[in-house]
Amino acid sequence: MEQPTQLPLFPLQGDQPQNNSRDTHLKDFGTFKDSLKAPVHSWFRYPAGYSYKFVDYMFSENGLGTGRWVYDPFSGTGTTLVCAKSKGINAVGIEAHAFVHWVASVKLYWAFDYVRLYQDINALIRHGRQFVAETMKTADTTGVFPELVYKCYHPQTLKQLYLLREFITQTPMDDHLRQLLKLALTDSLRDAAAAGTGWPYIAPNKNTGDKPPKDAVQIFEETLKKMCGHLYTVGKDAAASEIQNILGDSRQRQAIADHQIDLALTSPPYLNNYDYADRTRLETYFWGITQTWKDITQQYRDKLIVAATTQIVRGQYVVADALARTILELDSRTYEQIQQSVQELSKRRLTKGGKKDYDLMVALYFNHILEVLKETYRVLVPNAKFYLVLGDSAPYGVHIPTEQIIAQLAQAIGFREREFLEFRKRGGKWKNNPQRHNIELREGVLILTK
Ligand SMILES: C[S@@+](CC[C@H](N)C(=O)[O-])C[C@H]1O[C@@H](n2cnc3c(N)ncnc32)[C@H](O)[C@@H]1O
Repeated sequence: MEQPTQLPLFPLQGDQPQNNSRDTHLKDFGTFKDSLKAPVHSWFRYPAGYSYKFVDYMFSENGLGTGRWVYDPFSGTGTTLVCAKSKGINAVGIEAHAFVHWVASVKLYWAFDYVRLYQDINALIRHGRQFVAETMKTADTTGVFPELVYKCYHPQTLKQLYLLREFITQTPMDDHLRQLLKLALTDSLRDAAAAGTGWPYIAPNKNTGDKPPKDAVQIFEETLKKMCGHLYTVGKDAAASEIQNILGDSRQRQAIADHQIDLALTSPPYLNNYDYADRTRLETYFWGITQTWKDITQQYRDKLIVAATTQIVRGQYVVADALARTILELDSRTYEQIQQSVQELSKRRLTKGGKKDYDLMVALYFNHILEVLKETYRVLVPNAKFYLVLGDSAPYGVHIPTEQIIAQLAQAIGFREREFLEFRKRGGKWKNNPQRHNIELREGVLILTK
């Protein structure tokens, strides 16, 4: 049997994130690219995430240090919270997707005794490898997973993954350690796949079955060792801070005092028909948390602000009334502006094969964003900034200037200044697709001041 290599006690210096200036990396601020290489941030590939460099940059631009408070109403896998924790800044993050929230919670636990962790992990890796080797011949994965999971893996690899899952869930160990192992296996799932499991969606048809099996045990071990090294890197000199990673709905009132927060920083779901609930399908199917589309809807989809047509049951709405009256009362011009797009989309959808509910998606999106803006306004200290990383969109060719509409709504509820800093243009890769609109889209940060 192949022996696992020992875990290095001290991580490589090359693992440390580099500090780059804003201008050099502006175009990547809205993407997860930099975070894929950074300690802890890289533990789960969540391209919906933004760059940790953006967060660090905004902390320093606003002079935010130890003892101050930051708020992220869409905290996802915890980029803002991890950045705050490493700088001793207090933070509150709200995330409504329970699996994504769990990822953040594992990324935020650094209180391991590093020497003990090193010993435990080496022992667990040894036992895990032995367990898989001994049970490989007799293990049977038939009927364990939903069909999609079988389509994504070579049967040999899936057996290894299944046995690792059993090993992690059944072996007695400290619970924080178990969560770390679970995340390491979660993050190994896409690397071990034979199918196209790159983001955003899984392409099981790309599993031709003619490639040799990948060694899932090896992938898992490497991931776990990397994570362990990162914990040492970040944990050794982080100042104490209070980090609240809350599973909740940022449209609702939070247990945060008025004027408690010095800076808010977030990236809301873009209005681009992206189904966040579907993003973790492979992972939640693998762990047996969900088995069907309906499970995913009930556990995740229904809890998120509307940004995709898959979240909408058309029969529940009257299109003309879908946009909230509160928007009309707050700012009738913005109401009219959104309502015109909603009406245009209601017409255009009838001429399209898919008849997508983009009209309702647009109306509901702004209803929901308004609630988040109000709650964020309440918790900020006067003069504090609220940064929102955003992109606009053009469903069925109707341009929705998301950043402009959100800025107008923000102003209507009391934010007094607004500015948009563009990171990059978007949508270029579909330029030659005749089915698509040719509206140039952009991504950047909307900066609001209370
Ligand atoms: C663009 S992502 C933010 C990712 C985050 N910056 C990170 O680094 O992982 C938007 C997130 O908002 C979450 N979300 C959607 N509706 C929500 C709600 N009502 N309350 C809290 N979070 C919500 C989604 O699940 C998603 O993870």
